Amino acid sequence: MININQSATGTANGKIILMGEHSVVYGEPAIAIPFPATRVEVAVTSVEGPVQLDCVYYQGNLSAAPKQLANLIAVVESTLNELNQDLKNFKLTIDSTVPVERGMGSSAAVAIAMVRALFAYFSTNLTNDVLLALANVSETIAHGNPSGLDAAMTSGKQPLYYIKGEPFVPFPLSMSAYLIVADTGLKGQTRDAVASIAQLNQENPTLTMDAIHQLGALAKQAKLAIEANIPVTLGLVMDAAHEKLSFLGVSNDTLNYLVTTARTNGALGAKLTGGGRGGCMIALAADKDTATCISAALLAAGAVNTWTHPLGDD
Ligand code: MEV
Repeated sequence: MININQSATGTANGKIILMGEHSVVYGEPAIAIPFPATRVEVAVTSVEGPVQLDCVYYQGNLSAAPKQLANLIAVVESTLNELNQDLKNFKLTIDSTVPVERGMGSSAAVAIAMVRALFAYFSTNLTNDVLLALANVSETIAHGNPSGLDAAMTSGKQPLYYIKGEPFVPFPLSMSAYLIVADTGLKGQTRDAVASIAQLNQENPTLTMDAIHQLGALAKQAKLAIEANIPVTLGLVMDAAHEKLSFLGVSNDTLNYLVTTARTNGALGAKLTGGGRGGCMIALAADKDTATCISAALLAAGAVNTWTHPLGDD
């Protein structure tokens, strides 16, 4: 018989895609890093009656939660199904510092933390395969056709070189450079952006797949630049990726403006990160002082928040 705890928690972190968003959906490689500056914690506590949900969007019975939380309800139901438990007698409290819909993997991070918390609450061992499969139930509702990258990144602690459907390759990303992440303050539209590239691919497969393959080639070049510790090359490759992503229609004026601002303030390169059409952009700086200057310029240009992340020893 399964032992039920009085309370349990599960955690996950945000993620940043360095290279390969969107093209990863089509089997090209991506490089992504966990972003522990942003984090989700889900707490499960014992209460009598229907399952309760407490998050910034909603407090009340899970069954009456708004449609925008459909992915969350689905992951709770699938997890309980996997655990052979009934949907009753507990409360879920979600606490998150991962900005929502900003390309930092918030939906995947909540799903990962949720599955972990529920397995801990029902004292059941959780394998990585089951964790990712359950999180991808939520991701499929949130994104339509997820590559699995967000779930992998938000559950892990190591950078990954990721190819859809292949085993994860931990990627020792250590480079004498700094990454600045800036939030446009606009909700990203990953689902629409993924769908619009699929549509473009139906209308003009040659041009679309050419851009996708070039993004894949750029991700491979980025891997080489990181392994050889040549930030200047990584910056150029990031710039080229932003152009390709813009060509595919997943950037917007605000992202382009912040990318240009970063470049004119000393960035070695800059690009959007994640689903695009809002959300976040990233810039590469050669040293900490330049990173501070880029960060200040991005805030002055309208970014609502920035984070600076050393890619090697700080
Ligand atoms: C979203 O963070 C990343 C995308 O490549 C979608 C995916 O990989 O599922 C746009």
